[in-house]
Amino acid sequence: MLIRNETPADIPAIGRVVTEAMLLLAQATGTEARIVEKLRADGALALSLVAEDGGEVIGHLAASAARIGAQEGWGLIGPLAVLPSRRLQGIGTALMAEALRRLRATGRGAALVGDPGYYGRFGFRAYPGLSVAGCPPEVVQALPFDGSAPCGELIHHPAFGLDQQA
Ligand SMILES: CC(C)(COP(=O)(O)OP(=O)(O)OC[C@H]1O[C@@H](n2cnc3c(N)ncnc32)[C@H](O)[C@@H]1OP(=O)(O)O)[C@@H](O)C(=O)NCCC(=O)NCCS
Repeated sequence: MLIRNETPADIPAIGRVVTEAMLLLAQATGTEARIVEKLRADGALALSLVAEDGGEVIGHLAASAARIGAQEGWGLIGPLAVLPSRRLQGIGTALMAEALRRLRATGRGAALVGDPGYYGRFGFRAYPGLSVAGCPPEVVQALPFDGSAPCGELIHHPAFGLDQQA
């Protein structure tokens, strides 16, 4: 398995992987593949990593710039998607490890909205005052690279369609 940047030829397969992966996720909105397309169209995909095996795209991770309160420099991870037939083979972990390695080189930390039962293993956790309107606080998580405690609203790129002051 290889983790690498997306190429133009991967774009249709990325859309399929994201759509298929989210079908099994109860809280998915069905718009996740569209979010990736909008980020790409806006030049806002800070990272678009694919996991490739035997020439096939089997996983994908997107990251985009985000703010926490007024603080710039956060990398928002999501969506993260692994083909249902390839789950529990370490592919999500490999994508996340590479994303964090790259974000560490340039940013102050990573943040995401997701299941703490999965993301806790990478060092993500909720912080008092870290929020996204309409989301339970425990699913809004950050991994500050300097150990500081992030506080404020996690502001996503407008492609996510949240009602925020980006
Ligand atoms: C969540 C997802 C990305 C995980 O990818 P994956 O390649 O199957 O995960 P890994 O093989 O790297 O799993 C690593 C560990 O996390 C655990 N794990 C996997 N999915 C989990 C979940 N949804 N909740 C809790 N733990 C989970 C695995 O059991 C494994 O544990 P172990 O190291 O103790 O064996 C993938 O299942 C997926 O695409 N799900 C649907 C979409 C989704 O939920 N995306 C994230 C929110 S945007």
